[in-house]
Amino acid sequence: MTEFLINGGRKLRGAIAVQGSKNSALPLLAAALLVCGEVVLDNCPALSDVDAALEILTYLGCRAHRCGSAVTVDATGMHACDIPAHLMKRMRSSVVFLGAILARAGRAEMTMPGGCMLGPRPIDYHIDALRALGADIDLCGDRLLCRACRLRGAELLLPFPSVGATENAMLAAAACRGLTRIRNAAREPEIVDLAGFLNAIGIPVRGAGTPVIEITGGSRPHGVRYPVMTDRIAAGTYLCAAAVTGGEIELTNANPLELRALTDALLRAGCTLTVNGSRLRLHAPRNLRAVGIIETGPYPAYPTDLQPPLLALACTGKGTSIFLETMFASRYNHIEELRRMGADILTDGRFAAIHGVPRLTGAAVSAPDLRAAAALVTAALGANGETTISHIDYLDRGYARMDEVLSSLGAEVCRREF
Ligand code: EPU
Repeated sequence: MTEFLINGGRKLRGAIAVQGSKNSALPLLAAALLVCGEVVLDNCPALSDVDAALEILTYLGCRAHRCGSAVTVDATGMHACDIPAHLMKRMRSSVVFLGAILARAGRAEMTMPGGCMLGPRPIDYHIDALRALGADIDLCGDRLLCRACRLRGAELLLPFPSVGATENAMLAAAACRGLTRIRNAAREPEIVDLAGFLNAIGIPVRGAGTPVIEITGGSRPHGVRYPVMTDRIAAGTYLCAAAVTGGEIELTNANPLELRALTDALLRAGCTLTVNGSRLRLHAPRNLRAVGIIETGPYPAYPTDLQPPLLALACTGKGTSIFLETMFASRYNHIEELRRMGADILTDGRFAAIHGVPRLTGAAVSAPDLRAAAALVTAALGANGETTISHIDYLDRGYARMDEVLSSLGAEVCRREF
């Protein structure tokens, strides 16, 4: 087990380049299966979830290795089309290998994916989309057996703009003869990054970033070198962390437009934000204000992955902040732990009302999932005294060396392994 020991109250100051995006790198690694040849992903973050994806690729018979921040995958020698349960259970994103393996091999076998416990996370939209593209899919308990003699382009209408279902449909559509049109597609920037990759390997994709995406499949993809986009969730987490400490930081490689919903909230809290190209500078006041009403939703609404860190910030914002979590049924796992630090929070189902207190107090807390861990780190940085956060392994799934990044900004964070 790994824990962080954080001595709170130090202002974060300085400039950082934010890591590559976890939620973009994982589908891009799956997409590398479409190519018989070499794919190099630059800016690929060093995360345990990325390691899990590389293990899946290696199991399938691909060559996959990391050299610095670049990951090279060569799927020419792919010989398996099943993923064992122990690899599927490591993360939610293992499910995007379904569309990619089907596209490449015409069959796939796997169990249901793992991932953070955020309430029910069915994959019915993924399955329906792949069936509409011509796949036969049998569900036997926890196992999925998929075959597709001939995938063919089709009109798909997603019941909800699911990120994972959109990605799976795009990956399978790459191998479909003809045009696939996905309506009510997810519009997240990570979808745009995946479309950019597919275009770069020779699969024409139009409309990514809008609710209608068109993929013209059937051509033979070729190798490419492609940069993973900057992680907007990590960027937002560092902004929240700096803000609770009354600090001043600059992100040197951010995309401010993608962070709009968060930066609007930070402005309401009293922070000053300055944009200069991809440089985003935050200057926090001594005392934060409430953040107003935050309702999570599909992009461009407020991102659910940034609800926990902002909620941690709201704990010391003067006044009352209201959160409405619409994306996942159990995404308030951090609240009980924040209460141990002195937070004043009332919850009612998907609503949370946070009454700001002047200061949180260090305590022994336990990280229940990835973004909840980020919330606890955020709270600890602004708290009086020492906080011990156990189960930091969750944090390592999505944040590359967060302790080192925070230390470079002046925080007192110590990692302890048991
Ligand atoms: N849903 C269904 N059926 C489906 C698919 C989704 O009911 O077949 C529901 C989900 O249960 C959920 C909602 O639709 O209530 C949204 O799910 P979505 O499919 O959009 O999410 P995801 O693909 O499972 C990705 C990110 C999440 C992020 C969400 C929403 C990755 C690997 N994961 O999950 O990131 O919260 O989109 O933006 O890209 C994280 O990084 O901590 C994380 C959980």
